Amino acid sequence: MRSGSNVCGIVAYVGPQDATPILFEGLQRLEYRGYDSAGVAVVGKSGQLRVRKAKGRVRDAAEGLPARFKGAPGIGHTRWATHGEPSDANAHPHVSGTVAIVHNGVIENADELRAKLTADGVEFASETDSEVLAHLIAAAAADPDVDLAEAVRLALTRIVGTYGIAVVDASRPGVCVVARNGSPVVLGLGDKEMYAASDVSALAGHTRQVVHLDDGEIAALTAGGYRTFTLEARATTKEPSELDADAASYDTGGHATFMAKEIHEQPEVVERALRGRLDPRFHTAHLGGLNLDPRDARAIRRVKIIGCGTAYYSGQLGAQLIEELARIPADAEPASEFRYRNPVVDPDTLYVAVSQSGETYDTLAAVQELRRKGGRVLGLVNVVGSAIARECDGGIYLHAGPEISVASTKTFTATGVAFALLALYLGRIRDLSPADGARIAAGLRALPGQIQEILDREAEIATLAAELAAHRAAFFIGRVRGFPVAREGAQKLKEISYLHAEAYPASELKHGPLALISPDLPTVAVVPDDELRDKNLTTLGEIRARKGRVIAVGHSAVADDTIVVPKNEPELDPILLTVPLQILAYHAALSLGHDIDRPRNLAKSVTVE
Ligand code: F6R
Repeated sequence: MRSGSNVCGIVAYVGPQDATPILFEGLQRLEYRGYDSAGVAVVGKSGQLRVRKAKGRVRDAAEGLPARFKGAPGIGHTRWATHGEPSDANAHPHVSGTVAIVHNGVIENADELRAKLTADGVEFASETDSEVLAHLIAAAAADPDVDLAEAVRLALTRIVGTYGIAVVDASRPGVCVVARNGSPVVLGLGDKEMYAASDVSALAGHTRQVVHLDDGEIAALTAGGYRTFTLEARATTKEPSELDADAASYDTGGHATFMAKEIHEQPEVVERALRGRLDPRFHTAHLGGLNLDPRDARAIRRVKIIGCGTAYYSGQLGAQLIEELARIPADAEPASEFRYRNPVVDPDTLYVAVSQSGETYDTLAAVQELRRKGGRVLGLVNVVGSAIARECDGGIYLHAGPEISVASTKTFTATGVAFALLALYLGRIRDLSPADGARIAAGLRALPGQIQEILDREAEIATLAAELAAHRAAFFIGRVRGFPVAREGAQKLKEISYLHAEAYPASELKHGPLALISPDLPTVAVVPDDELRDKNLTTLGEIRARKGRVIAVGHSAVADDTIVVPKNEPELDPILLTVPLQILAYHAALSLGHDIDRPRNLAKSVTVE
């Protein structure tokens, strides 16, 4: 069986320091992206390659490392296999002669290349597609007139697939080569030293000056600097940018987990997402990066939102806000589905892509397909300078700060706020009255304080969570505005507690799933005090009549247990109603003893299909 190593972390260092501790520290920061095996390779002083790799966590690979394990340049990798067993042999780096490589992505023609290399007498040490690349580079580097950058370029021209790679060659010390195609690579510019990583979180603490590689770009790094060029050997020029977060953003900051930290950051996240974006004069929103003048914005006849997982659910919430405030028909669809159905792309539709990482391959591919067909795409993206952000015509940065926990929380909230701002802007150039504009703006300003009130009730929610965790499954229901909330609540519970959780529109319950209601299957019901409250109460009555247990989230006591949240404007209430469901999932997982920041089978950025 071939084993891919897809959603992984890469780190590299060139400079006067010993790379080993730098690589291990970087890998630890990247561990949230992949955590079934890890490894490093460094070039020792006397020109020998030292490799250490092991199945398990980064700390397993670092354990018992001999004092002489020192050197630079060096490369490191933390892996999350999507197919094939994690094992010592399949862990990266992969070595061929004096060359060592680490790779994220999938090499589609690996079987064919492996067969050719084997016929030439090459022996493989692992089952990975990545190892092919090590042998191809080593073969090209066998010519002493070819430098490492050129050897990497020649090897990559033979590859079909996606990659983010870092390469060192013990017989060519002082240089490390990295390349990107569909899997992110970012360079960190130090003082007489260079770093590279698949994610800026590994660079924080070392440098704030970064350069994002584009697809099809290769970079040769030395202590003195870097040069970049394309697969066709054409030199490129890059503009460094400043990192907007420091190392502290990558620590748990006194919380037990990143997820807890990120849930608690939400009041501040909302404040940041709103900063400078509300216009008190015209009761509208200021969104500098939209690249959409009022005339274009008025011409929009539909809004189509795409994203995956939590980003998709936040898109459903966004579609609701846009329809309500701007009265433009809007809907959301999983980007992973959209891209495969040969979508009709309409010039009067505004497309909006939502992504925390800005690297999700399905979303990126959908954006590329839209742009190719002439669609206008806005990005609601958290990571500045990420692939999706760069691919879009304009957008709104979420400014939620780094989100490390695999389960997304603060980004969902920040996306809800960004959609409210977009809906306010689109509404106010149409028929939303100044009074309604002012009402929504005031509602947005009230969110941080109201989220804090919910966070202050964590202990009460934790008690209900422990009760929920005693069951094997749960229903989540909500109507209209409450439905995306229910879906996101179910998603959170599934991801970290591994309980089966199914979200249903409350209105659909009686059309089938009511048959499942029994004392064994609790229902989490989203019941805001809005015009649909009575309908929701009827549904709760139907559940109770079947002896179903209900935990409600709403504005007043509507069930035996209701998590009462502060009331905002009806259009904005879904943002608040989601927060207790994040806490509920968190404490359910905690009471079951799960590793919350590293849920099984999942990784933070899904940069493969
Ligand atoms: C949910 C979660 C995933 C992501 C999805 C999209 O907690 O983590 O469902 O939301 O993979 O990721 P981004 O937003 O990075 O495109």
